[in-house]
Amino acid sequence: MSRRGIAALSALLLTLLTACDAGGSGPSSEPETSVVAARAPEDALSVVDPELMSSIPGFQTRSRVDEERQMHATWPDLPGMAALDAAVEDHAEARIDDFLTEYLPTPGAVAVPELNLTWRTVGMSEEVVGIVQDEYLNPGGSAAMLWRSTWYDVAAGEVVDNSALISDPDALTRTIRKALIDLAGADFSDGIDEALAEEPPVVGFTGDGSLFVGFDEGQVAAASEGRISVRIPADRTEGLLTQIGLEARAAALDPVVPTGGATDLPGDEPSDEPSSEPSEEPGPAKPDCDRLKCVALTFDDGPGGFTDGLLDLLRRKDATATFFVLGQQVESYPDVARRIVADGHEIGIHTWDHKSLPTLSPAKVQWEILSTQRAIEQATGQRARLLRPPYGAVDGVVDRVARRAGLAEMFWSVDPEDWKDHDSAVVARRVLAKARAGSVILVHDIHRTTVDAIGGIVAGLRQRGFTLVRASDLFGDLKAGKRYYSR
Ligand code: NI
Repeated sequence: MSRRGIAALSALLLTLLTACDAGGSGPSSEPETSVVAARAPEDALSVVDPELMSSIPGFQTRSRVDEERQMHATWPDLPGMAALDAAVEDHAEARIDDFLTEYLPTPGAVAVPELNLTWRTVGMSEEVVGIVQDEYLNPGGSAAMLWRSTWYDVAAGEVVDNSALISDPDALTRTIRKALIDLAGADFSDGIDEALAEEPPVVGFTGDGSLFVGFDEGQVAAASEGRISVRIPADRTEGLLTQIGLEARAAALDPVVPTGGATDLPGDEPSDEPSSEPSEEPGPAKPDCDRLKCVALTFDDGPGGFTDGLLDLLRRKDATATFFVLGQQVESYPDVARRIVADGHEIGIHTWDHKSLPTLSPAKVQWEILSTQRAIEQATGQRARLLRPPYGAVDGVVDRVARRAGLAEMFWSVDPEDWKDHDSAVVARRVLAKARAGSVILVHDIHRTTVDAIGGIVAGLRQRGFTLVRASDLFGDLKAGKRYYSR
């Protein structure tokens, strides 16, 4: 079939899929009874509670960022699962390298290509662990969504292919093919068969135990229709799953940390949860920055694996800072987020996953900000009053959403480019050379070299007569939706 033919059928498919998917794509309490193909189905996958992940001793997230090229990638690192960690990291690094070499900015063009890589755990047990990596790739116009699942056999210490979960690939292919064709109301088997001959990028399970097979954009339908999935109800998967496939389903529906992991599961531990009523940052009295030479040290992109050590250092030095956190990192490090606030630092929103906001729809901009506010409130009991848009990218929509959310937009005036030069001495020298009274200094607590530079930076700033304050202390009454760069 021609590409145009596929596109026409895809359009029809979309209409039918949308109709079929009405009522939401999230895990439903009603078990599905028929095979369903759907557009934009990512929310249907059963995801392991991030609290379970953050309770695993030694659990870390890894990041690689390029602020100029608008690239932000995060992936998990699970203790004792070297093969899984390597597979997940290799996939991230391969996608990053591909982006950095293939998607070069066009000189003079306004739009800069963007890559955003995130992850979620879709199964965890004594037997298997499953990770899905989501990719948002925007060449400079509209974004493509891609994804990959990686399943790990705990006992064998090996990563298995997605197809290892399936005992009868031919039967699965027939079922998927029929689902897509049924919905399209016509036969477009040529394009489908080609796509189905490849291993599906995602195999997982929904909250009701349905088998979930996910395809990349453009794989089984026109790219404009987004990612397509087929969900096969639990009672129709008999004979379709291998032993490890059945274990993967159990790991998705009833996740537990493998032995050797956490001993205290969330919910069992004594609760020192913050009160459900978020407070409006009481904070210490504002220092008098009319009189003092104030500067604000601000940390973006965390919390991460080095943040706790940084907080130790700031406590020893009796120094105050501001942390612009990512919602997904707060989910991974809720205790560290809590400590940021408990130690008297300021906490602000850096969005959920660091996408450039002006390229998103207004609804998505709102979601990026409000979901992070919720994560902050849940972890710390406090509501943030500041927003720092990723890459400093902002437009009228962002201003409006920020205003409605009661957030002032806090940019920066000193940027030592610590993400580019992982050299503590260079970073410290640049900060000390550029700091002025009223400066907002931008650094990132996800880089060890930056955290290692902070002791020298704090000492150097004080030697020069500066007082370290929280970002909002530099200004009088902050206005929601207004942009601030320095005092
Ligand atoms: Ni950032």
